Amino acid sequence: MPAFVIVGAQWGDEGKGKATDLLAEHIEYVVKFNGGNNAGHTVVIGNEKYALHLLPSGILTPGVIPVISNGVVIDLHVLFEELDALNARGIDTSKLRISANAHVITPYHISLDKTAERFLGKRAIGTTGRGIGPTYADKINRIGIRIQDLFDESILRQKVEAALVQKNQLLSKVYNRAAIRAEEIVAELLSYTDRLQPYVADTALELHQAIEAGKNVLFEGGQATMLDVDHGTYPFVTSSNATAGGAATGSGIGPGLFQNVIGIVKAYTTRVGAGPFPTELFDEWGELLRKTGHEYGTTTGRPRRCGWYDAPIARYSARINGLTDFVLTKLDVLTGIKEIPVCVAYEVDGKRVEEVPVSQSDFHHAIPIYENFPGWDEDITGCRTFEELPKNAQDYVRALEKMSNCRISAIGVGPARDATIVLHDMLG
Ligand code: GDP
Ligand code: IMO
Ligand code: MG
Repeated sequence: MPAFVIVGAQWGDEGKGKATDLLAEHIEYVVKFNGGNNAGHTVVIGNEKYALHLLPSGILTPGVIPVISNGVVIDLHVLFEELDALNARGIDTSKLRISANAHVITPYHISLDKTAERFLGKRAIGTTGRGIGPTYADKINRIGIRIQDLFDESILRQKVEAALVQKNQLLSKVYNRAAIRAEEIVAELLSYTDRLQPYVADTALELHQAIEAGKNVLFEGGQATMLDVDHGTYPFVTSSNATAGGAATGSGIGPGLFQNVIGIVKAYTTRVGAGPFPTELFDEWGELLRKTGHEYGTTTGRPRRCGWYDAPIARYSARINGLTDFVLTKLDVLTGIKEIPVCVAYEVDGKRVEEVPVSQSDFHHAIPIYENFPGWDEDITGCRTFEELPKNAQDYVRALEKMSNCRISAIGVGPARDATIVLHDMLG
């Protein structure tokens, strides 16, 4: 059963791109199964830095077949821009497979995303403005446009017209915006078909055959557990299932075929956009984490909100995803902090609560209960074994592991691929 899943265990940007890159040399297929170009996954290879948005990070590894499966929403303009940029840097992207069932982000989805946010005012979610929510909404409302629709002009025209009937009413009468002409959308979408054709496939079938043949398939999640539309901090979430179950529905691979589920977790916590965040820091410590960790969005450039490690969230992620392994990233960022607070539980209405509360209001009001751990001053970026880490760093990692209910199998001590301490084989 050689299918493996990588998911974000917090609110995104944990280092999923780097973890994928680390494992990719043992992998034949890397699948993006959810989200779209709201993601920003950074991979550093030697002196080169890549930011992947719509494409899975595994595309950078020679020999790996990258797959965009049915659960993804695709902005075709972004797709070809990203492919062109990689080609210009000498990356071969010719093996890419794209599901015929994936949904297409159109200009009206982007326009509705931005307008809806403005109308939400102070209740805005802080979306990436890439049209993600409206595209998934159309999918669920059964008025979405799929990749396969682009290859039948008459069907495409009918579908775009049907999708625009209601939207043009909304845009012109509620949002006071110009109506969108179906013909313009159809023409734009048709302009991509020749380039798109060679990539389009029945990816569920191809992936199934690959797994049957004993090939290793890695599913690279976008976003994260706390941004999952079902299990995250709703409504301050994205519109897809970013948890491990999403890898099954988002690709057409049965859950029984997944072997390891790897959660990527930072040694502290960050979040972009609005929504509850119990350990958020508003003082100089938050500023220190942001500066030292370069916590600025890969997609939007927004400064990320920063806070201490939240063990109830890690435990929650371990449970919701059925994690077999954690990759703990950015331990190096904590170097030099004398005492490192870790949230071990919350106080809600005067009571100690060990788990993430199911009530959104309780989570909003949860006050972190901290335990302090002694820090270290030594530069750890050169450490490649656990034993080389200073004793206090070892104790910090072991304490997090104990609190987070899942073994830590790798530790990130820098952005580069080799700046990693591997403790257990995650593909075994
Ligand atoms: P993703 O969206 O989960 O792939 O994460 P991002 O790429 O958005 O953000 C993670 C950032 O941290 C990137 O700039 C990575 O290069 C960087 N990074 C990943 N792991 C480590 C690590 O262990 N240490 C340090 N210092 N940086 C890391
Ligand atoms: P990666 O894969 C961090 C956040 C947005 C916003 C919310 C909804 O790089 O970890 P959306 O545009 O998806 O409708 O926005 O989700 N968000 C992310 N935050 N990392 C991401 O991706 C994110 N993708 C979406 O900031 O709060
Ligand atoms: Mg990111």
